[in-house]
Amino acid sequence: MPALRDILNHYILNSVVTFEMVELSLENRKTWFTQFSETGRYQLFIAEEAGEVVGYAASLRFHQRPAYAPSVMSSIYLHPDHTGKGIGEKVYTELMENMKLAEDVHRVYGLVVLPNPGSERLHEKLGFQVAGVLNEGGYKFGDYHDVRMYEHRLGK
Ligand SMILES: CC(C)(COP(=O)(O)OP(=O)(O)OC[C@H]1O[C@@H](n2cnc3c(N)ncnc32)[C@H](O)[C@@H]1OP(=O)(O)O)[C@@H](O)C(=O)NCCC(=O)NCCS
Repeated sequence: MPALRDILNHYILNSVVTFEMVELSLENRKTWFTQFSETGRYQLFIAEEAGEVVGYAASLRFHQRPAYAPSVMSSIYLHPDHTGKGIGEKVYTELMENMKLAEDVHRVYGLVVLPNPGSERLHEKLGFQVAGVLNEGGYKFGDYHDVRMYEHRLGK
């Protein structure tokens, strides 16, 4: 949990790839962790290298209104020293394979703040389609930012 907290806090403080704005505490991450299970809608996969946690891919609740329940939102973050080496593709593929196996997941949505060439390429490579763009959908560090919504139709 401390490693995951530190990775996310790096992007919260230094980038717009996440629209979180405030540093996360260890307590916050521990609570976050309780939503996951080994099967079902909300799953978490950790990427490790030489025994060190270097990132994660997860499926999360997409929207609080109940009819959205069969749709999940994906989330993926790697330690900045471990990007561009194929780890993202590996851990995201693992998540998506498990989403295909989960009985009650119909759609996976990935929200990508533009531009983010690595994340855009990864979503396309894994079979996501562009569902649309939220024009200036978020405001961080004094600017509005576009958000592309990627959609994976799991074929079930
Ligand atoms: C986005 C992220 C998860 C991608 O994972 P990664 O391990 O860096 O990517 P991979 O090495 O698995 O590469 C996957 C594909 O994207 C391409 N890619 C990776 N980084 C890239 C970049 N900066 N520019 C262009 N293409 C890139 C790779 O070339 C590969 O495509 P290819 O097989 O056609 O060559 C990772 O870089 C990351 O955590 N970034 C910071 C946090 C973030 O942006 N999270 C996503 C929020 S939506």
